[in-house]
Amino acid sequence: MQKTKRAPVLKPKADPRLSDAEQFLLPTYKRQPFVFTHGRGAYVYDSTGKKYLDFLGGIAVNALGHAHPRIVKVIRREAARAIHLSNLYHNAYQGPLARKLVEISGMDRVFFSNSGAEAADGALKFARLCARTASDAPDKPGAKHRILAMQNSFHGRTFGGVSVTFPEKYRLPFAPLLPGVEFVRFNDIADLESKFDDTVCAVIFETIQGEGGIHPATEAFWNRARSLTTQHGALLIADEIQCGLGRTGRYFAYQKFSSKPDIVLIAKPLAAGLPLGAILASEAVASRLSPGLHGTTFGGGPLVCATALEFLSVIDQKKLLENVRARSAELREGLAKLASKFDFIREIRGEGLILGIEVSVDGNPFAAEALRQGLIINCTHDFTLRLLPPFIITRAQVREFLRLFELVLAKTPKSISAAPAQNAANPPRFAHSAAR
Ligand SMILES: Cc1ncc(COP(=O)(O)O)c(C=O)c1O
Repeated sequence: MQKTKRAPVLKPKADPRLSDAEQFLLPTYKRQPFVFTHGRGAYVYDSTGKKYLDFLGGIAVNALGHAHPRIVKVIRREAARAIHLSNLYHNAYQGPLARKLVEISGMDRVFFSNSGAEAADGALKFARLCARTASDAPDKPGAKHRILAMQNSFHGRTFGGVSVTFPEKYRLPFAPLLPGVEFVRFNDIADLESKFDDTVCAVIFETIQGEGGIHPATEAFWNRARSLTTQHGALLIADEIQCGLGRTGRYFAYQKFSSKPDIVLIAKPLAAGLPLGAILASEAVASRLSPGLHGTTFGGGPLVCATALEFLSVIDQKKLLENVRARSAELREGLAKLASKFDFIREIRGEGLILGIEVSVDGNPFAAEALRQGLIINCTHDFTLRLLPPFIITRAQVREFLRLFELVLAKTPKSISAAPAQNAANPPRFAHSAAR
């Protein structure tokens, strides 16, 4: 058993690894001044031995928690066989993993990438490819090349990914970006309709917006996006990189709707922490691809694919989708009680184990206080506290979370910064009624 000492947070100068990081890393992240060294289940430990309950899971990655014995065993076994072989040859696990993903998603074919952004980027390429006709000049934009993305979206940091990501801070410093992208107000059917015509080749959105503050797509919006894309011969691309692969208590968030997208993007938890993403596509999309049109050196190697097969097998055998639903109900009940106690909680949103707690004061100090209390959560969009715990959490850990979180809500100094703007993706406060 690990020691559970709750020691004070290290000062930056005390650990040479921190000064190395400060001196030699590109300054792309604002990191906390301590070093996490290892994890076990739903807990992470820092170099002083301090224990943290991890309700962020490496931002939706560690769905089986840390050091899951079955995952460790497969990684050890496969590392001793072949870590990498090359996509010029078959390996033992890529085909079986593609079959399993097709079975659980209802899609037809799979391309493996290394990350979510790379999957999103590939999907945008596929959309352009599918829309291209013989009458399009090969060196000019095709007649059908526009892409509709959503306000409040996040799809990753590649050029394609940032081009369809809404916040200007991620996008504008790198302009000019992918041409032909327009943003629609999320869940606003009239806005979607007004921007739609035959020049659109794809609509891309997160089935539940994650970085944007946990905003689920409405059924009406999904249905209209599906009917418009079908009518105009465009692709509907569902980004399930954060909300997919079991996080909602279903394998895919879109499975509560009656129709499927043409492309689904997944990544984060797929290989239980190893880098692996995928584009799941319909047969119609697949029919436009041929050898050489798209590729990757690392994507879909034997080590990551074997690990992903084990991840999906653990979910099945341990009935983790049921656990996600049961723990979610307990969490929501506890959060609703906290919302009636703390009036700065405006709304609780999300489904399964992707939950957002919107506050009317600056949310960032809550995440900092949570760390002091030995709890990992994060704050996204300044006003939404985000919970992405592992699928293996127990009822006792939900109770532990609620106890720690109440302490955090009570102790955090509240700074009255501007309240979040209200728009279609961020409606005025209503009862704590978001879908489960
Ligand atoms: C919805 C969504 N799409 C795409 C990405 C990008 O994935 P990655 O960081 O693996 O490139 C993320 C990452 O947070 C995401 O949440």
